[in-house]
Amino acid sequence: MDYKKLLNSHVESIPPYVPGKSIQVTSAEIGIPPENIIKLASNENPLGPSPAAIDAAKKSLANSNMYPLADAENLRKAIAENLSFSPENIFATGPGMDSLIDSLSKAVLSSGDEVVISTPTFSFYEISAKTYGATPVFVQRKENFDIDPDEIINSVGENTKIIFLCSPNNPTGNSISEKDIRHICKNSNCIVFLDEAYIEFSTKPSMVHLLKEFDNLIIGRTFSKVYGLAGLRIGYGIMSREIVKDLLKISLPFSISSVSESAAIAALSDFEYIEKSKKLVHEGIKQLTDGIHNNTKFKVYPTDGNFIAVNVYPYTSKQVSEHLLNNGVIIRNCESFRGSGRNLIRITIGTEEMNKKVIKLLSNFKQF
Ligand SMILES: Cc1ncc(COP(=O)(O)O)c(C=O)c1O
Repeated sequence: MDYKKLLNSHVESIPPYVPGKSIQVTSAEIGIPPENIIKLASNENPLGPSPAAIDAAKKSLANSNMYPLADAENLRKAIAENLSFSPENIFATGPGMDSLIDSLSKAVLSSGDEVVISTPTFSFYEISAKTYGATPVFVQRKENFDIDPDEIINSVGENTKIIFLCSPNNPTGNSISEKDIRHICKNSNCIVFLDEAYIEFSTKPSMVHLLKEFDNLIIGRTFSKVYGLAGLRIGYGIMSREIVKDLLKISLPFSISSVSESAAIAALSDFEYIEKSKKLVHEGIKQLTDGIHNNTKFKVYPTDGNFIAVNVYPYTSKQVSEHLLNNGVIIRNCESFRGSGRNLIRITIGTEEMNKKVIKLLSNFKQF
């Protein structure tokens, strides 16, 4: 069989998704036991999962012989209540928000279509678009990482189906203003996908209220960040009822397991854990920003997420991330984010102790 002849021609051009390095792989590579390695590379919640979610997941295991309810009905209801929307405006899906991005791409994209992506940003938008044969048009952010809304609008052509926006943006941490989002929604005759994976950490408001005004807006959310359930892979989107109906038609049946659904419902109302997670992040941002500015010449960018972007010029992101890795701290070398350049690293906010170790390692980097 000549497999390559059978392969969709566009698959060759799909870049591999580069995840944060795992503790297990790092431990084997550098010979440090896993318990002595700190992972601050995937914007996970260092507090562990919400205790209420763990309890609910354990209880739900007893019913694992049964399929879950269709379309994660109970979770959609719980999310809808939380946001004061109707469950018919909610599409809950797994694995994670990645699955929402994939389902949306599957529903609307095919060969010859285009999507607009403002770089540097989350890399799965590009992978997903290319998977369905579409061509990404990249619009580079400004030097301070703000988007250029007019350039984005000007990049929308006849074949553009989706504009991907991320706020707070991964990996840069900054947000998009309501004015810019309105401007883009109003002036583009296509879907505007706004990724709010990190919105719960932000002191700026979510844009959910704009859904009542713009039927081309879709907002993506996840349980992987503030809710601490990255390993359970649960995401959701808020959008018009019409779009929800179509996404339900083409998504995989029972994409959220009953255990994940129970955990997510419990996590939504574990307010003590949510507040604790936010406090940890807000204090950690200050600790890391002050610590790095006081002890190095590196530039820390302001952030609305649970991570900071740091420009490590005159060193490269590879040099600095390898230095930390060799000392048991995994952070993110942003070279794999298109348009990030060679000097940007991203550090997830950890516990006070973890952050201290990062500051110490960055402070003594010059000696190497
Ligand atoms: C901006 C952004 N969107 C989406 C995702 C994917 O989230 P999930 O874990 O729900 O698939 C991530 C993961 O890190 C992210 O950073």
